[in-house]
Amino acid sequence: MKYKLLKSHISTSFFIYSTCLFAILNFKAFASPDWSASATLPGNIECHEVHGKEVCLSDGNRANIWQASDQEWEKLVKRGAEHALNYPVEITRLQLPKTSMDKFFQSDSSSPLRRFVFRIARGLTQFKSFDAIYQWLGLHEFPETTAEYGPNYIPPFNGTAREAMGVSVFNHNGYQGLSFSCAACHSSNLFGTKVMGLTNRFPRANEAFVMGKSILSKTPTFIFRTLVNPPEEDVKIFNEAKTAMKYVRVKEPIALGLDTSLAQVGLSLAIRSKDEYASFPTGRFRPRANPLDRKPADSKPAVWWNLKYKTKWLSDASIQSGNPVHTNFLWNEIGRGADLEKLETWFETNQRKVKELTAYVFATEAPEFNDYFPGQINITRAKRGQKLFLKNCSGCHGIYEKAWDQFDDLSYEESIATVKVRYHARTIVKDVGTDPLRYEGMNYFSQDLNRLQISESIGTVVKPQNGYVPPPLVGIWARYPYFHNNSVPTLYDILLPDYKRPKRYVSVPAIDKVQDFDREKNGYPSPALIREPFRSDREHLFDTRKTGMSNQGHTSMMLDENGGEKFSESEKIDLINFLQTL
Ligand code: HEC
Ligand code: HEC
Repeated sequence: MKYKLLKSHISTSFFIYSTCLFAILNFKAFASPDWSASATLPGNIECHEVHGKEVCLSDGNRANIWQASDQEWEKLVKRGAEHALNYPVEITRLQLPKTSMDKFFQSDSSSPLRRFVFRIARGLTQFKSFDAIYQWLGLHEFPETTAEYGPNYIPPFNGTAREAMGVSVFNHNGYQGLSFSCAACHSSNLFGTKVMGLTNRFPRANEAFVMGKSILSKTPTFIFRTLVNPPEEDVKIFNEAKTAMKYVRVKEPIALGLDTSLAQVGLSLAIRSKDEYASFPTGRFRPRANPLDRKPADSKPAVWWNLKYKTKWLSDASIQSGNPVHTNFLWNEIGRGADLEKLETWFETNQRKVKELTAYVFATEAPEFNDYFPGQINITRAKRGQKLFLKNCSGCHGIYEKAWDQFDDLSYEESIATVKVRYHARTIVKDVGTDPLRYEGMNYFSQDLNRLQISESIGTVVKPQNGYVPPPLVGIWARYPYFHNNSVPTLYDILLPDYKRPKRYVSVPAIDKVQDFDREKNGYPSPALIREPFRSDREHLFDTRKTGMSNQGHTSMMLDENGGEKFSESEKIDLINFLQTL
């Protein structure tokens, strides 16, 4: 597939969104986006009454977030892609010394080094190469052939060796330090294509932090020196990571596919001082107790292509203001033990990089169902599904205008295109009864975050919410399993009332379009049809009865006035056909 940086996707009304005052104040080459809590999407805003409440939808979006010229925009986006793959914060402290790790992999199982590591981190000794680690981490290889490129730009292969997507390489006088980039959690293999901005279904970044913490805290530097005989550069990388890790508190996700980065940020702040730089405590210091220690607040990494339709960030819109990419750098760095004064300086001197990455994430597009399953949508059904959607779902999820609404003599491909998305001019939050732990989790560290000088300088304000954002449903077909906590395996199951949804399901990577995907229900095949080794792999079993993993809620809209199911079997299929065109 060829990447699509389609200019036509940017709505023309985009260019009129900043207010006049704003335009007068802004003589820079780029207009600054409105990152404030009162920001609205560009475009024409129309308000309707839905079930007695006013719903205001806008027909514009912020795909070109800096309002750059076409040429400049393409440059920004391409550079941004580099940063998404290669973490640009070179002052980041948690890095792996590559040369020494290679030595470890090459050592045999009876070496003193392997025996030592076996004692402190048994898991690590199963690996014989970096490739094996990358696979365990759920990282994907870079695309090589044209067919492997997804819709979003990935810098072409330029002949130099590349690690996996999501691994950053930093140069230390000729020696290498490795770290995670955004792509570790925000890129995925979708039936052979590599899609930037799609949730990694099986990330293990948090588990890697857990393992790293165990190794670093239990290995004195002299042991590292004695057993590995490392180059001096590696000792420096090792010591820096060891020091940083003291200020990182980690937690394993409750299920494979979920992520505990939020908890990692909250808990790490709780072991740092309470001043505006969360400085490293000296002398006697009592870490603050934090409920996140016990309570899960897991969620999956979000897709990026929805950002252009949003004005508040995260699954619960708890980030009310500020550039979300800025905020993500900050949070990623707190989770890696950063010195926040140094990070502030890095921000000041690297505005361009932040801008480029921001351009990229806002420009990302969803993979289209028809590119993967050509000709498989029943348009008659999809049109019926559209009517059901408009009546029952649009008040929360927005309106998706289709080419078939406007023209008659279109080819199949042309008619299923979405020509306009109308979504809330200001991002809304609804409590529809889905698992509350993730949004509740925000209560336990929002103050620690808001207190930071750096939050203030980048304009980030965090405000806990009750509920979640009804997300834009663009590319929803590729986003299974559903809800912020992955608790529903297919679109079909979303359309059931919660008490009828599967209590357990089994996940499988999206490799084979026939075996690994249920096209009718749109999502994971039923457990009996999942191929081995995944079917018997306990890690791939998702049990909705566990804490934080509930599949409750989002049910009233599936019921009629008498409490019976609203949609017949046939209507569910109509709705799925429609959703697959988004
Ligand atoms: C360890 C995994 C991980 C890494 C690495 C990571 N993210 Fe995320 N990201 C997440 C998770 C999990 C969420 C969703 C949290 C939630 O809303 O519940 C998220 C959400 C986001 C959002 C908000 C999306 C929305 O709809 O509001 C943005 C933007 C984002 N990440 C950008 C980045 C950028 C840029 C980087 C690199 C600097 C990055 N992320 C690195 C896990 C990760
Ligand atoms: C009252 C508002 C509301 C209505 C009406 C509503 N939804 Fe939702 N929907 C939500 C919220 C909120 C979420 C996010 C829940 C979560 O992640 O915990 C959601 C999530 C979803 C998701 C999963 C999104 C994802 O990325 O995992 C799908 C699919 C969905 N809704 C489809 C529908 C359909 C189809 C209808 C109409 C039959 C509908 N919704 C009606 C509020 C609503």
